[in-house]
Amino acid sequence: MHIVHAQRRVGVSIFFVLVFSAKTLAFDNAAPRQATVIGSLACKGCHPAFYDGWRATRHARFSFGCEACHGPGSAHVAVPSSKTISVDPSPELCGRCHRRNSGTVIEASGNLLKSGQQYNEWRASPHQSVTRCVTCHDAHYSPTVFRERAIKKSCLACHPGTRVFLGMQTIACEQCHMPKAACREQAQGVGSYRTGDRAAHIWRIKSEAAPGEMFSLSGTTAQKDGQGAYLTLNFACLGCHNGKDAKHYDIESVRQTAPLVH
Ligand code: HEC
Ligand code: HEC
Ligand code: HEC
Ligand code: HEC
Ligand code: HEC
Ligand code: HEC
Ligand code: HEC
Repeated sequence: MHIVHAQRRVGVSIFFVLVFSAKTLAFDNAAPRQATVIGSLACKGCHPAFYDGWRATRHARFSFGCEACHGPGSAHVAVPSSKTISVDPSPELCGRCHRRNSGTVIEASGNLLKSGQQYNEWRASPHQSVTRCVTCHDAHYSPTVFRERAIKKSCLACHPGTRVFLGMQTIACEQCHMPKAACREQAQGVGSYRTGDRAAHIWRIKSEAAPGEMFSLSGTTAQKDGQGAYLTLNFACLGCHNGKDAKHYDIESVRQTAPLVH
């Protein structure tokens, strides 16, 4: 993964030339015809809140600045107007980096999802037809630093009235529906009972499926059924019910109680 990202960083400027040039030519005559990359610091003065939010994200840590998503900014700084800068709210913008292969196959390895493919997962999820990435996300804020600003729409905003029973009503929806089933750096556990370090974007839990059934026999892709991809209960429940964060349960116990959660 480190290598892939390093290559992408180099690839970004080439990408701008290909993708944003059409847009550049469409700028009004007052603006310079060819915009160039000038760095996020040039945006700070006029967009301080976006700048401060962005500084605290992993985008900043990976040196993906404002212009990684908005295209070269020199023309806009010279003539500030919505006509001189690109805004692309499509999932495909995010999918330029948050995607593996063509975006249709969810890659897996060692009983975990590979990281950096939220686009692939979202496309195989029930939210594919009803959301974009920016329906939930404000891309200028980190969910771990500015949670309220970063997550624009809560689960309950679209799933009103969903109730959680079994004494778990204070647990966030994400804890079960977006467990850390993807791994970038650090994994814990063994075999089918492993936990990664990145939140899955699959959401649907298939209670009847056995641990391991989330992946193909070869273990290199996530399985899909007629409704798309799914999470198994080892991810949805046992990350907590391990005797440390909550009572220890085995997979058979959670399989029996899962249908009673809602
Ligand atoms: C000199 C002040 C100034 C600077 C510097 C500046 N902007 Fe802007 N920006 C503006 C103004 C003014 C608008 C138009 C606001 C409006 O029309 O509502 C704008 C709008 C935008 C928009 C929204 C466009 C839209 O269609 O709604 C984006 C995105 C943007 N700026 C990004 C950037 C980026 C990236 C940089 C740094 C490369 C930057 N800005 C630097 C003043 C500035
Ligand atoms: C990871 C991609 C990404 C990065 C990085 C990013 N933006 Fe944006 N920005 C977007 C997207 C996507 C939208 C449109 C959001 C929408 O439609 O919900 C947007 C919208 C905006 C707007 C218009 C907001 C509005 O409410 O109309 C401004 C201004 C802006 N960005 C400025 C910046 C500045 C300044 C930076 C750097 C400090 C930056 N952006 C970094 C993706 C990004
Ligand atoms: C130019 C490449 C690039 C683009 C385009 C991009 N991202 Fe990212 N994004 C990254 C990288 C790299 C990371 C860090 C990956 C990691 O640590 O797992 C990241 C991390 C994130 C994070 C976690 C931030 C944090 O601080 O924890 C969110 C949320 C995110 N991206 C959302 C988006 C959304 C939404 C879009 C589209 C509007 C988008 N990204 C577009 C490269 C990109
Ligand atoms: C913008 C609205 C919206 C948001 C925000 C949203 N959802 Fe959904 N979700 C939907 C819709 C609409 C469907 C039904 C899609 C379909 O059936 O094609 C759905 C489907 C689902 C399903 C699958 C239901 C099934 O039939 O198996 C789950 C699970 C789910 N959402 C959980 C969540 C969680 C957890 C969150 C918060 C992280 C969330 N949703 C946020 C709109 C939303
Ligand atoms: C303790 C774990 C857990 C929590 C917390 C949780 N869910 Fe679920 N959810 C499940 C399980 C397990 C299923 C599948 C149940 C089954 O097999 O019938 C499910 C199913 C769903 C479904 C599809 C079936 C249905 O009942 O409509 C939606 C939508 C959903 N959850 C939304 C949410 C939302 C919104 C929240 C937060 C308010 C939430 N869930 C919190 C475990 C959880
Ligand atoms: C239904 C709402 C929803 C949609 C749609 C959505 N996300 Fe997320 N995403 C979240 C939530 C909530 C979190 C925070 C999870 C947590 O912290 O438990 C998150 C976290 C992330 C992270 C950080 C993961 C980590 O664990 O560090 C990235 C990166 C990300 N999303 C990218 C995307 C991209 C790219 C898309 C579109 C392909 C997308 N998201 C679509 C709700 C959503
Ligand atoms: C975020 C952590 C977390 C997750 C994820 C989680 N639980 Fe729990 N669960 C708890 C806590 C905390 C309690 C209450 C105290 C305890 O049992 O340790 C609890 C209680 C329970 C109870 C006991 C209710 C009682 O009356 O004794 C059952 C059954 C249960 N969970 C089933 C599940 C199932 C099934 C899943 C997955 C669909 C799940 N849990 C996911 C944390 C979690």
